[in-house]
Amino acid sequence: MAVDLLLGLQWGDEGKGKIVDVLTSNYNIIARFQGGPNAGHTLEFDGIKHVLHTIPSGIFHKDAVNLVGNGVVIDPVILKKELENLEKFGSDLKDKLLISRKAHLILPTHRLLDAASEASKGKAKIGSTLKGIGPTYMDKTGRNGIRVGDLEMADWKEKYRNLANKHEEMINFYDVDVQYDLDELETEFFKGIELLETLKFTDSEEYLHQAQKQGKTILAEGAQGSLLDIDFGTYPFVTSSNTTAAGACTGLGIAPTKIQEVFGVFKAYTTRVGSGPFPTELFDEDGERMGRVGHEFGATTGRSRRCGWLDLVALKYAVQVNGVTQLIMMKADVLSGFDTIKVCTAYNYRGQEITHFPYNIEAENVTPIYKHFEGWNQDLTGMTEVSQFPKQLEAYISFLEQELEVPIKIVSVGPDRKQTIFR
Ligand code: IMP
Repeated sequence: MAVDLLLGLQWGDEGKGKIVDVLTSNYNIIARFQGGPNAGHTLEFDGIKHVLHTIPSGIFHKDAVNLVGNGVVIDPVILKKELENLEKFGSDLKDKLLISRKAHLILPTHRLLDAASEASKGKAKIGSTLKGIGPTYMDKTGRNGIRVGDLEMADWKEKYRNLANKHEEMINFYDVDVQYDLDELETEFFKGIELLETLKFTDSEEYLHQAQKQGKTILAEGAQGSLLDIDFGTYPFVTSSNTTAAGACTGLGIAPTKIQEVFGVFKAYTTRVGSGPFPTELFDEDGERMGRVGHEFGATTGRSRRCGWLDLVALKYAVQVNGVTQLIMMKADVLSGFDTIKVCTAYNYRGQEITHFPYNIEAENVTPIYKHFEGWNQDLTGMTEVSQFPKQLEAYISFLEQELEVPIKIVSVGPDRKQTIFR
């Protein structure tokens, strides 16, 4: 039985959570494959807004099993808060949640190391969410990490102590001012561990293998976006995991030959939170308007997101790297009311026009070249079918489909589940 993937094609915050929630009824299992609580997946229905950080976005559906895969890093403190927030919406949520034994744990000292590392970088800082993601993945690849399965071993606290001590030495090495009370942080951490230990742990690759044999349907859910991928993103201004399609194989133990549909989610414009190059970024009234109308504030950090026009050069690159088979366009409603809508179709790269995504996209290397489209004034948020779309929006969508060579199958016109139009 095949597995479908759903991932973000820009710098994160494309609206993946909403779409996973919308598509969940088609799947038996929703499996998150990478990232950690740096993500903030927002779901809105029945007038309530939910933000998930670690838990997959299928949790509100009655029958779906939600799996946190081996590629994810888990902060027990944040997971505890997330579960407590969800408790009021159903006591069985915990029963539908499975945690991979091979997922790594974020320790309090990982968060402190993140802060120390960022502080030491001064102006070159990445704009990390400071959730300890980078240091946890560093310990994973450095073969020092603590995994969920270790909690079932008698000596895990000893391992923890040794690693936390080493981290404290590393924090001192950075020689920056990071204030902390480790006792307090550890009290919180061990309370989180207690709750984590009440959840169901699984050898998730085996679980998913058996599920496939039994004909169950699986949706692999990504976090962040392709341009934040550790290999293919705008390094070093990236996150520490593979956010692209290949990450689903290593983050869940799913064979590449089993992947069927790859759903690529993108916004009708572009946003980025944190530092790093962003060729189509706007510093004018248009950018300010996108931010205001689109409520572009980070779901995890509350930071304002940088906004700009759609970058087709970057989007094509992401479609290519992921092998996207179906596109999903989010926040089309935010573009209503602009006289002109622009799309970057090529870069002027050091004096030469190029259409591929180059090694450097900093402002000194790249100037975007735009194609202009006529805007529309109609409010899209109440629309329920494609036939109601203004012709200018249809022209915009058709152009993107033609350029990307992949159909746009869903257009989202608002944050609610119901504001989702299938084409
Ligand atoms: P980190 O993953 O917290 O270390 O952050 C690294 C970079 O990725 C920073 O620029 C963050 O703003 C960005 N980032 C991490 N997670 C997300 C996300 O879920 N949405 C958007 N940006 C993110």
